[in-house]
Amino acid sequence: MTGVTELGYVRFGVSNLEEWKTFAGDILALEVVETGEKSASLRMDYWHHRIILEEHESDDILTAGLRVAGNEEFKQMQATLAGNNISFEVGDQSLCARRQVLQLLVLEDPAGNPLEIFHGPRIDTHLPFHPGRRMHGQYVTDSGGVGHMILGHQGLDQVYEFYRLLGMRGGIEYRIPIGKDATFDLLFMHCNERDHTFAFGLPPLEGKHINHLMLEVDNLDDVFMTYELVKDSQYAIAIEPGKHANDRMFSFYMKGPSGWQVEIGYGGRPSTHQTEFFVQDTYGHQPQK
Ligand SMILES: [Fe+2]
Repeated sequence: MTGVTELGYVRFGVSNLEEWKTFAGDILALEVVETGEKSASLRMDYWHHRIILEEHESDDILTAGLRVAGNEEFKQMQATLAGNNISFEVGDQSLCARRQVLQLLVLEDPAGNPLEIFHGPRIDTHLPFHPGRRMHGQYVTDSGGVGHMILGHQGLDQVYEFYRLLGMRGGIEYRIPIGKDATFDLLFMHCNERDHTFAFGLPPLEGKHINHLMLEVDNLDDVFMTYELVKDSQYAIAIEPGKHANDRMFSFYMKGPSGWQVEIGYGGRPSTHQTEFFVQDTYGHQPQK
């Protein structure tokens, strides 16, 4: 277990913090924790936080936090990065305290996606997750981390090589025919039993780094409860319910307050740890205008 093991936390810059807090609690059922005038954190399990919101005009990810197992792996990761001429900074005590982790590195992937590689998150078992609104079940995190994200890239080979160095595995999982001898490829990378943690190929929305964040629940009722809440809100359904072919996830997508999408899914199968590709989804997932 020398590579990264999960997407541990994500930090988003949001232009409207108050709106985001309401959206996170009332629509997504995340637990909103006040952390200051210009920030808040969101919980979905025993972790101190899984998402950090900071007032910021970018409406984009500010950090994707990738976990390594411990001290030794943290040192090995620094050696791997240095040995491959990937620049990084070691986070100081104050930054570690803000993120509530023991140690962290700050770096960017080749596409400019902002990353932190950390070990030792703070876990608050004395504070069970308290959802922002009723839930039938719970979020699926455990060793699979927060969920998955589709991020921007400037070449699939380039991001594949970078994340392979971090210890991820993966490959093209969708090769969609788009005309004679032409295909549209999507790359999926995993680092645990979740089918994918990062994927690349869809365009970032509105020029941001992120296309979407997927959060998984452990039952279908919470997917449709969220779906109905979105339908009754000012937020738009971006992609109607359907089932993905690669991770077998039943899900739908909404357009959140920052413009990028949030996917709520259920029933994702574990990673097969072998490459295979699909030409279309199993059913559904009709994009909305
Ligand atoms: Fe997704």
